[in-house]
Amino acid sequence: MKRSSVVEVLQSDKFLQEVMIKGWVRTFRSNRFIALNDGSTIHNIQCVVDFENTKEELLKRITTGAAVSIKGTLTESQGKGQSVEIKVTDLEVLGDSNPDEYPIQPKKHSLEFLRENAHLRIRTNTFSAIMRVRSRLSFAVHKYFQENGFNYVNTPIVTGSDAEGAGEMFGVSVFEKNKAPLNEDGTIDYSQDFFGKETNLTVSGQLEAETYAMALGKVYTFGPTFRAENSNTTRHLAEFWMIEPEVAFNDLDANMDLSEDFIKAVLTDVLENCTEDLAFLDQRLTQEEKSKPQAQRSDMSLLEKLHFVVENNFKRVSYTEAFDILRNCKPNKKKKFQFPIHQWGVDLQSEHERFLVEKHFKCPVILFDYPATIKAFYMRLNEDGKTVRAMDVLFPGIGEIVGGSQREERLEVLQEKMAALDIDEKELWWYLDTRRFGTAVHSGFGLGFERLVQFATGMGNIRDVIPFPRSPQNAEF
Ligand code: 4AD
Ligand code: MG
Repeated sequence: MKRSSVVEVLQSDKFLQEVMIKGWVRTFRSNRFIALNDGSTIHNIQCVVDFENTKEELLKRITTGAAVSIKGTLTESQGKGQSVEIKVTDLEVLGDSNPDEYPIQPKKHSLEFLRENAHLRIRTNTFSAIMRVRSRLSFAVHKYFQENGFNYVNTPIVTGSDAEGAGEMFGVSVFEKNKAPLNEDGTIDYSQDFFGKETNLTVSGQLEAETYAMALGKVYTFGPTFRAENSNTTRHLAEFWMIEPEVAFNDLDANMDLSEDFIKAVLTDVLENCTEDLAFLDQRLTQEEKSKPQAQRSDMSLLEKLHFVVENNFKRVSYTEAFDILRNCKPNKKKKFQFPIHQWGVDLQSEHERFLVEKHFKCPVILFDYPATIKAFYMRLNEDGKTVRAMDVLFPGIGEIVGGSQREERLEVLQEKMAALDIDEKELWWYLDTRRFGTAVHSGFGLGFERLVQFATGMGNIRDVIPFPRSPQNAEF
């Protein structure tokens, strides 16, 4: 007999038909009602056991977490909350689960506890909903770009260049600890290492993606990205997934348009295709909000927030305008910010970004034209000589979700910039070649995939939207 998935059976109206399903027991009530889930949907299917004709030993083995195979007749449900159920005719326990040892009990567990059991947390409603939404979002990302003429590029994970110039990289080496050969000056002699040079895990595929945009026109990357920054926050991971489109002949305005259109498209896709999971996550968040003091509660539900973002224009504001708003705002004047705003040119902290998005504009904001001194070397210098064509997309509850820019396409200006920042031209000779041969205006951005999943699912901690999070002091699993 062919196995059906729970979602297929729940949607079926072929009553009195025989079906076969396999899954994991969520609960078993009154020696009679099994709530079975197989991951195909947030909903369980109720399987009714004929306990009078079932052996005692078998009934005892139907415990939360056990894997079972069930054959039975599809019937219209008598109970409330479900339209169909299965009258069990044949039940086999495929894998027992000792109820005294199984950590995921049918009760509310804290997210911290579930993080410690990340290999089993996916068996809860919350995490299965999050991960189905995550999966759909990845598909929506590819769908958007593929349908809009972009080519998917796989940029290297091991790289010799520090794209962001921030130096927060994980080294890659085959040298044994403390046995690396040294140069005369005591530094490590990487010429004897595997790649013959110092290499790291990539912090961004942008520089390589730029070379592809200068031939394929429109490209995007979607891959793992690594940052060794010691930020123990709810928005940072040491290993995360980044999406980086790069488009030849796009200026900053076109880049802003692309980022806004892209984010709206993928969120629309999940709103249309993950309705049940989002309805569940919406309820979950509403419950969680109730436990907060009134003043800290969000005035929109998860679904309202998603619709709001999809249906409204992002507000575009220059750094200088944002700086003026922040300098004159109440929290700044009352010294409520941890980092006071007084000098044009300061980097904006997450408290400032959130003030702009959540309190002042009350919508997603795209900040552009940042001071050159706080942004990476590759961003195009404006005529004023002090700002660059950078853009950050800021989201409520998340802060920065996208960072991007129009790239400096003028060879001499780029060389000057690199010299000023002490970036060796020999390391980036290939990057400079794109400016030597057929250079052109081009732009792109990077979107942190987990921050997008956080926004779509309403989860407060980024460690809850990736299967096995990597963060300082944590690489379990
Ligand atoms: O702003 P970032 O550093 O920009 C770049 O890496 C550019 N090379 C992108 C480009 O123009 N192609 O990072 C881009 C985004 C951030 O806006 C944030 O969403 C995410 O990547 N991000 C992180 N997400 C999770 N954990 C971290 N540690 C992150 N660091 C950046
Ligand atoms: Mg950034």
